[in-house]
Amino acid sequence: MGIGTSISREALVLHRTVAVGCPNQAVREPGRASGGHRSHCRSAASGSNVAGRRGHVQSLFPSRQKNRRGQEWKGVVSESQHEHQPVLVEPVLRLLDPCPGQVILDGTVGLGGHALALLPRVRPGGRYVGLDLDDAMLAEARSRLSATPESGVALFQANYAEFPKWLARVGLPRVDHMLLDLGVNSAQLADEARGFSFDRDGPLDMRFDRGQKQKAMDLVNALPEAELADLFYYNAQEGASRKIAKRICQARHVGRITTTLALARVVETVQASGEMRPGKTHPATRVFQALRIAVNRELDNLRAFLDQVCEHLRPGGKLAVISFHSLEDGIVKDFLRKAKAAGTMEELTRRPVIADPPERAANPRSRGAKLRVGRRLGN
Ligand SMILES: C[S@@+](CC[C@H](N)C(=O)[O-])C[C@H]1O[C@@H](n2cnc3c(N)ncnc32)[C@H](O)[C@@H]1O
Repeated sequence: MGIGTSISREALVLHRTVAVGCPNQAVREPGRASGGHRSHCRSAASGSNVAGRRGHVQSLFPSRQKNRRGQEWKGVVSESQHEHQPVLVEPVLRLLDPCPGQVILDGTVGLGGHALALLPRVRPGGRYVGLDLDDAMLAEARSRLSATPESGVALFQANYAEFPKWLARVGLPRVDHMLLDLGVNSAQLADEARGFSFDRDGPLDMRFDRGQKQKAMDLVNALPEAELADLFYYNAQEGASRKIAKRICQARHVGRITTTLALARVVETVQASGEMRPGKTHPATRVFQALRIAVNRELDNLRAFLDQVCEHLRPGGKLAVISFHSLEDGIVKDFLRKAKAAGTMEELTRRPVIADPPERAANPRSRGAKLRVGRRLGN
């Protein structure tokens, strides 16, 4: 069966590159016990709540929107958080310090929040090249940016890993500033049809690029148990990766897992049976993160982007990357350290810049954000 075979191969490649390429990442011990968790809960509903009629997985109880103290899970997008606010705008402006006439490459233009803040600084005469894999985000960015005076903006539906091709397209092989604001934005999370969120029901999709074939449900339903466990462990350091993978495979006997809530409920049963530590975040948080990273090849794309930065950044030009988890931040940190040792870049942020208390209070998404900035050396 074609799809299962090709996914397995891709997943293997993914795990190998992750394990080799990220020096800060924990390496999974061979034969590691699956989690080694203490039992915190009474054993409950073990396996039973994933049994539904053949063809789809359902639950005997609704997905838990609140934790055991009755509080909303951390990380759940509430109605008030749907409005996307760009993170760390002030430090990005201060550290990049763009000037009139300069060229900026924004590899993750999203809804254009950073673009709207940066554009006025390069005017008059500046250029802004924005890329995003998501056609819906790009349409929104296009409409927002078209409201600003003067042109000089070029937006493409494209992978930032292939940015040189798009710079060449607009005749700008080198730029003054590059920005990546990684991950998913609030609008994508809030749209249940995109399948990014464990707290709203939708197809288990998670693709940034909706033209891409492989969705999260393809991985969840086709990967062998051990590969699923590796995916959860290597992409999100999920401690109960093996227990969760096992439970998913049990659920697959009942039927395909095709929706976000069906997957969230399967993971909840692992915690409910005491095989997973209760935490402040929803038990499916890491599983969803791991799948999103795999579906969109996020770590591979980041590495491919960084490999090409020095060649396309003018001397004195700056690179800013905002990341949201330790794997991404580790890759950026490692790149800047190596570029510094090679004499091609200097680090402008010895420690990552994080959001200040007012921003953290106003914009929950900013709480996990880390900004690193480097400057291109040379003449
Ligand atoms: C956090 S949002 C960016 C928000 C943006 N800075 C703003 O202020 O509105 C990240 C965006 O990156 C896009 N993205 C993720 N991976 C990408 C890739 N490899 N190439 C291009 N865009 C990507 C996502 O579709 C998403 O819109």
